[in-house]
Amino acid sequence: MNQTLQLIENRRSLRAFSEKPVEEEILDTLKEATLRAPTAGNQMFYSIIEVTDTGKKAKLAELCDHQDMIATAPIVWVFLADCCKWDNFYIEGGSVEKGKERGIASRRLGLGDMHLALQDAIIAAQNAVIAAESLGLGSCYIGDVIENHEQMKQLLDLKPHAMVAAMLILGYPKSEKRTGKKTKRCPVDAIFMENSYKEPHLEQLKYAYAQQENDLREISGLPDGNTGSIADRFYFKKHTSAFMSEMNRSAEVMIDEWKNN
Ligand SMILES: Cc1cc2nc3c(=O)[nH]c(=O)nc-3n(C[C@H](O)[C@H](O)[C@H](O)COP(=O)(O)O)c2cc1C
Repeated sequence: MNQTLQLIENRRSLRAFSEKPVEEEILDTLKEATLRAPTAGNQMFYSIIEVTDTGKKAKLAELCDHQDMIATAPIVWVFLADCCKWDNFYIEGGSVEKGKERGIASRRLGLGDMHLALQDAIIAAQNAVIAAESLGLGSCYIGDVIENHEQMKQLLDLKPHAMVAAMLILGYPKSEKRTGKKTKRCPVDAIFMENSYKEPHLEQLKYAYAQQENDLREISGLPDGNTGSIADRFYFKKHTSAFMSEMNRSAEVMIDEWKNN
């Protein structure tokens, strides 16, 4: 296995950070590497808010389902799908006006623009994850960043077309050695499909998630006194949870704001 594959293989989400600050040069290197990610048309339809204010970090921790590690993480980055900047560029740079003179009607941003910008932002985030790992830093995505849109918007001064795509917390690991077992993944043949989608049903799904189910059973992590299935666990703990409802409500507001502005 080469060094890159080794790095990918060994990466794990990190949730306990050392108090050691990340050196300026390391941070600069990380930022440069993040921006080397592929980007649609090389337009970079994303922006990254680096949250350094401790009060804001604490508020983010609260808004992201009370995940306290956000408040103490040395680096907190919120990745935005950002079409706001190109919209401003088109308008303020005179392209829209020139277009009108040529009979080209201006157009509003649509969900295609949004999707492309989300792809851009998330691809950059994953570049950051891998680059961070190579620099001895650990990272963790925070999916709950799409909850509480109204408060998040106020906290970060977001705009309808500068929408939250992802969030990463990063820093040096608190402990030298990794604790806990490495997470399992589904087998390759349960994820890759040739030429068309093959809708998986119960038997295939049991096969796909058997390893993760075993790991949960080992730590008594399944419902009903550890007799339930991995499907039960995620159905009860996540799919039907209050935080998932909030995520769906909040995401709908974000998308409506994108569509209607
Ligand atoms: C989109 C996304 C959202 C996530 N949100 C959270 C989160 O809010 N809190 C958390 O502790 N981990 C979060 N994670 C980390 C996952 O739990 C983690 O990647 C998964 O359990 C696999 O573990 P590994 O990254 O160590 O391989 C998130 C990961 C992704 C990709």
